[in-house]
Amino acid sequence: MSAAVAAAAAETRPPPPALNGALNGHALLNGDRRWEDHFLPTPLRLDDKIRAQKIEARISKMVLCGATLRRVADVFEHEIEAGLQERPSSLQMENTYVPELPDGTEEGSFLALDLGGTNFRVLFLELRSGQLVQEKVKQYHISDALRLGPGDDLFNFLADCVQDFICAEGMENDTFSLGFTFSFPMKQHSISSGELITWTKSFKCGGLEGVDVAALLQQCLRARNLDVTVRVLLNDTTGTLVAGAHADPAVGIGVILGTGSNGCYMERAERVQHWERPHQTVHDVCVDVEWGAFGDNGCLNFLRTEFDDEVDARSLLVASFTFEKYIGGKYLGEILTSVLSALARDKLFPAAPRPSFLQTAHVSLFEEENCAGEVSRTLAALHDACGADVTLSSADALVAQHVAHVISNRAAQLVSVCISTLLRRMDRPYVGVAVDGSVYKHHPRIAHLMDKYITLLAPDHPFSLRGAEDGSGKGSALTAAIAARIAVRES
Ligand code: BGC
Repeated sequence: MSAAVAAAAAETRPPPPALNGALNGHALLNGDRRWEDHFLPTPLRLDDKIRAQKIEARISKMVLCGATLRRVADVFEHEIEAGLQERPSSLQMENTYVPELPDGTEEGSFLALDLGGTNFRVLFLELRSGQLVQEKVKQYHISDALRLGPGDDLFNFLADCVQDFICAEGMENDTFSLGFTFSFPMKQHSISSGELITWTKSFKCGGLEGVDVAALLQQCLRARNLDVTVRVLLNDTTGTLVAGAHADPAVGIGVILGTGSNGCYMERAERVQHWERPHQTVHDVCVDVEWGAFGDNGCLNFLRTEFDDEVDARSLLVASFTFEKYIGGKYLGEILTSVLSALARDKLFPAAPRPSFLQTAHVSLFEEENCAGEVSRTLAALHDACGADVTLSSADALVAQHVAHVISNRAAQLVSVCISTLLRRMDRPYVGVAVDGSVYKHHPRIAHLMDKYITLLAPDHPFSLRGAEDGSGKGSALTAAIAARIAVRES
């Protein structure tokens, strides 16, 4: 095994045991390496040392040192405070009006809708004493025309899907409460209403910004004579937090690391300025940070590289959700393309990959092979992307793997800055962090890197990352059940 491969393999050791934070943090800090050095990606080792040096220099702005990450954390903390106090901030810090988490008494049958990616899901879920006893799911594809066309068409389609689902299940005569997981930034007025602020990811429908999406859905369902009431409107991070807290009551943060990225956490109610409901009895409330937009006001410009500028310029929503473009699965493959193209222009890589050939799945694949000390599948993917006539060597594959590693390392660091800042704010003896999303699930080492970086950035705040399954479905039904429980209590 080469030194580079050995170092990469060490990087992918099985994650440390469940409890991280203080214990492992101090072990990490008491080692021989300086705190700063723990943030460095594995170096690029090529026989041609001059080429390796030139490549490292070319992408050096993508490598963030500990001091820079502390600076990002300071800016994040400042933006959090400003957002909570309704002062100008790039962070929405949205009050979700979810004031409590599952306590095991959740009961009932619910419909849940999950909108956020290219597939839309309709679910039927039955809860008995907090346990999920029945689940039926159907997926519907959302075409480009619907994602980019008039908003009314999209919502009529969603209602058609609900009707199709109900009919297919023979439940036409039933009455339903519905949880709508709408994974876009919203201005919420209550647990069951909220206006779309802006589209993100691959959606850009006309005419819906400023519209109450729960009310619009309700209207479309009524027009089809469906006896369905939209009881809760929530973000996928909220669903993930609620589903995670159902499995472990110590969970207090929900994170999505998928096509997009975002987090929510339980904040003390008195620190939240924006309330449109009485809240005297509320102790903690779930706040949706919407960290994908972090820095859109320019406060993070010191991080931005020419590669990020290029990815942003080619994106559907330019100059919007720029932080998400450093982390989200929609973009990691594009950053890889952008960096390899720059290296090709500088004659440090054989050819530029053709646009859209390299996806985030390739970043994961290159990382996986890098860890295993292999290059064959990396080379095959590069041939597809650059053209079969391009001559590619094992060294070229190592370069592409290194770039994928640097991009992954930066993404893991930035999401870790956000989570560690929330841990410090919450200042609890221990916090479970529920995480869902395709990047978290499929990238071979992101979970371990996050574990390491959060520990380094918040060494006195014990935590554990817990993969959460289906926050958008199960979490939505659980949140609807929580809302029903609160309504009964307050009636
Ligand atoms: C949206 C968030 C969502 C995240 C993950 C972002 O683009 O703005 O609301 O939580 O994607 O799906």
